[in-house]
Amino acid sequence: MSNTNVQIFDTTLRDGEQVPGCKLNTEQKIIIAEQLDLLGVDIIEAGFPVSSPGDFKSVEAISKIVKNATVCGLTRSVENDIKVAAEALKYAKTPRIHTGIGTSDSHIKFKFNSNRDAILDRAFKAVSYAKTFVEDVEFYAEDAGRTDNDYLARVCEAAIKAGATVLNIPDTTGYCLPHEYGAKIKYLKENVKGIERAILSCHCHNDLGLATANSIEGVINGARQIECTINGIGERAGNTALEEVVMILKQHPYLNLDTNIKTEMLYGLSQLVSDSMGIYTQPNKAIVGANAFAHSSGIHQDGVIKNRETYEIIDPKDVGVTESAIVLTARSGRAALAYRAKNVGYELTKLQLDEIYVNFLDYADKKKEVNDDDIHIIVENSRLYKEIISA
Ligand code: KIV
Ligand code: ZN
Repeated sequence: MSNTNVQIFDTTLRDGEQVPGCKLNTEQKIIIAEQLDLLGVDIIEAGFPVSSPGDFKSVEAISKIVKNATVCGLTRSVENDIKVAAEALKYAKTPRIHTGIGTSDSHIKFKFNSNRDAILDRAFKAVSYAKTFVEDVEFYAEDAGRTDNDYLARVCEAAIKAGATVLNIPDTTGYCLPHEYGAKIKYLKENVKGIERAILSCHCHNDLGLATANSIEGVINGARQIECTINGIGERAGNTALEEVVMILKQHPYLNLDTNIKTEMLYGLSQLVSDSMGIYTQPNKAIVGANAFAHSSGIHQDGVIKNRETYEIIDPKDVGVTESAIVLTARSGRAALAYRAKNVGYELTKLQLDEIYVNFLDYADKKKEVNDDDIHIIVENSRLYKEIISA
């Protein structure tokens, strides 16, 4: 892995599947895992094996079929969790155990009724135990976003000493601002002894809509793995959206950070996850929403028809969308009508367009959107129809 490469850790099948009512069965998970592997994600978090027999079965089945990606299973800092995860991962070509514990004062006091030294000890023991099963062990410091940096650095040092290969710094509650999250990663890079032996990972939740921004600040400040889900699905307001961070890095080459993702597969994967989980993707969702490449105002349509780059920073084909859409509404101008009419077979002169445009506006005021069938009706009902078809 070069120093410019950001590893993409997909957790659609674990954190993503924590969306209420969106449970997937093993067959659906296998299909998604196969596609994620083809997409080029580096790590697939396949589930939390100890949580249920179904999850165990899914992690085991995914371990058997994934060809390229590392397959990862989540655990708490509990010996039985780790043992069960190792068992579920035994068929994986490259297995990873993801173990960890809450490190913020709130988690230490209210979840564990414990103290900082005891938690640090549990972290060390969990990683050491996981290392008896697999080489690749990722440690998460849950609620790292609200954990004091000095203590967090001590926990990270203990995890590295025990053999952790990756240190996950989750903003579990989505509380951090981008500059704070970036500063946290920088602090760890500069203050954790042995940090050169481990990769720092961003795992950001979207409670304030900042998951993507925080992950990007994380990698700008030295993290080299992003944990994310397709469509940003996940617990509460969700996780960092895979398609967003991948396209941000691709569209900003001066950051000098890249991923192994085949971006032309992004739209297909988004549809697959949305259909399998029965979760509708909001139309204005960045990159994969139905309106992400649709233009409806006359000014924008005129620009896009002249040159797509006037209002698009991404070529839709780069993310698997066939083409930009020029949507005809009462706000559309002549350029958009001429463009859409040409697509259905009418090459209009300026005069013809002027007449038809008046009929079009009449029609568009009564309908939300004018489709190809409507264009035929508008043209056929125009005074100039004969002239148009004999041209
Ligand atoms: O958000 C979080 O802290 C997590 C950990 C379990 C990795 O999902
Ligand atoms: Zn999470």
